[in-house]
Amino acid sequence: MVATSDIIATDLRFCWADGTVVLDKCSLDVPKGQFWMLLGANGSGKSTLLKVLAGLLKLDGGTITINSPVGFVFQNPDHQLVMPTVGADVAFGLVDEHLSFSETKARVQDALAAVDLQNYQRRPIYALSGGQKQRVAIAGAIARKSQVLLLDEPTALLDRDSQGALVAEVRHLVKERSLTALWVTHRLDELDYADGAFLLSHGRVIDQGDPHRLKTLLENT
Ligand SMILES: Nc1ncnc2c1ncn2[C@@H]1O[C@H](COP(=O)(O)OP(=O)(O)O)[C@@H](O)[C@H]1O
Ligand SMILES: [Mg+2]
Repeated sequence: MVATSDIIATDLRFCWADGTVVLDKCSLDVPKGQFWMLLGANGSGKSTLLKVLAGLLKLDGGTITINSPVGFVFQNPDHQLVMPTVGADVAFGLVDEHLSFSETKARVQDALAAVDLQNYQRRPIYALSGGQKQRVAIAGAIARKSQVLLLDEPTALLDRDSQGALVAEVRHLVKERSLTALWVTHRLDELDYADGAFLLSHGRVIDQGDPHRLKTLLENT
């Protein structure tokens, strides 16, 4: 499809232990530096696909080539943020890297600045809005130098203003830092921010390309 892609998935197959087939001949390709969205009905396999791409679930078939490390953002940030303060949470994601104190501090500051939370280091997580929590989760991925962001309905629990702000911010980050993002949503207005979109049905990509074409298509179905 294109010369350089940060996510290439070919003929993925995934079944649950009870034999239910969720992904079958599922293929997609996200070009480097682009912001793509993944759409599909409830139960079509979007979350499963993201988890398979992130290596959180083991494939039953097919191949994935992905530029790692991958950053994963869940629908509910309360399932993801584990430390009491913003700065500590972002730093916690770096423990495996055995960095010096000053390097950890620099990485945390850079990541929080990237999501416009530079003055929130000491803020308790419980005192943040839903949108701010999602930005902390994204900062965690930035601090770990993730090139690929996988975001599973990150705006599902947000109000309309925070929703618009988050999608605009992630688009800006992708472009500014040459990241590659795959963003699951069911909110069609978010397609205005996408470089492209995939439509998943019964565990297979059945349409892809221009987000405005897909938006019109889905608005009329
Ligand atoms: N842990 C699980 N065990 C068995 N089946 C599951 C599990 N999680 C999800 N499923 C099933 O897999 C299918 C795809 O789910 P999911 O990937 O969450 O879809 P989506 O994110 O598109 O709504 C659904 O039929 C769902 O019921
Ligand atoms: Mg889901």
